[in-house]
Amino acid sequence: MKTLVTGAQGCIGSWVVKRLIEGGHDVVTFDVNDSLARLEMISDAAVVAKVDRRVGNIQDTAVVKKLVADEQITHIVHLAAVLMPFCAKNPVEGALINVVGTLNVFEAAREAGIGSRIVYASSSAVWGPTDEYGEGELTEDLPTRPRTHYGVYKAANEGNAKIYFANDGISSIGLRPWTVFGPGRDAGLTADPTLAMRAVARRQPFQIRLSGHMDLQYTQDVADIFIQCLFSEATGAHAFNLRGDVISMEDLVAMLEEIRPEAKGLITVAGNPVPVAYRMSDAALVNTVGAVPRTPLRQAVRATIDKFEALG
Ligand SMILES: NC(=O)c1ccc[n+]([C@@H]2O[C@H](COP(=O)([O-])OP(=O)(O)OC[C@H]3O[C@@H](n4cnc5c(N)ncnc54)[C@H](O)[C@@H]3O)[C@@H](O)[C@H]2O)c1
Repeated sequence: MKTLVTGAQGCIGSWVVKRLIEGGHDVVTFDVNDSLARLEMISDAAVVAKVDRRVGNIQDTAVVKKLVADEQITHIVHLAAVLMPFCAKNPVEGALINVVGTLNVFEAAREAGIGSRIVYASSSAVWGPTDEYGEGELTEDLPTRPRTHYGVYKAANEGNAKIYFANDGISSIGLRPWTVFGPGRDAGLTADPTLAMRAVARRQPFQIRLSGHMDLQYTQDVADIFIQCLFSEATGAHAFNLRGDVISMEDLVAMLEEIRPEAKGLITVAGNPVPVAYRMSDAALVNTVGAVPRTPLRQAVRATIDKFEALG
């Protein structure tokens, strides 16, 4: 049994690699970036030493196919992607990485005859703005209405995953995180809650450049849910919401000041809300793979600040 993690040097990828290796699994990583900085930040040296690291571009069909075949990969966590700001500025390259890259992973699995499922990162960005859905919780049967190229690419991946199940019997689970936070999160539109926690740890001023509500999901929980899905028995092509704790940015600042009163006044909020609905239900996920971890928000925020303080 050997797991390929694409986008392994990223925030979620580093946590998935750490948790897989800690769980005794064999892991091959694939990323265009060769730095292990995030993994080194969150893991001890023994974990980092066990990484079998490959550097390459997910757009390269032949490379991805060869890797999966040569390494006799049995499980895949596909996270390689560029995030919303990059896709907004570079729609063509964004599509090549996010959509064609995902097709490459499914093609590689199909050719290699992988029997186990692929777990891949979709995104809450498949949803439209919150006022399009009313007051109820978002369940997966509601129509997706992405307002960004990035969200459209993620919706396309969910559609292609369904075709791979219908045509080739490849089972998959796409997970839709909202704002992942915790050590290692430093890129993308919604990195600011984590950057604010780092600023609190360093006692530096910081302005969160987004307002409104976010669903904050702790890195370690998100990684563990990806892994739980990877080893679940579920068949079919699923796409599930992930759920953490919904909080306004003003309430997050108040929580940060309660946790570290000495940082009072350092963190401010400005800017527009993210145009993505945030009341996601994770009932379908839980019904399919069982109860999932959800560290209480205050505890996870405190652990994140503690970690940043330890890092200095
Ligand atoms: N972080 C969040 O809040 C969030 C929310 C929703 C969805 N997601 C999705 O989760 C996944 C991981 O996100 P993240 O926060 O860890 O992002 P990240 O930017 O930290 O990690 C993405 C990784 O993909 C790699 N990558 C980019 N282009 C590549 C290419 N052409 N070939 C190979 N590797 C490439 C990057 O080097 C990076 O290490 C992505 O698919 C993202 O769209 C994240």
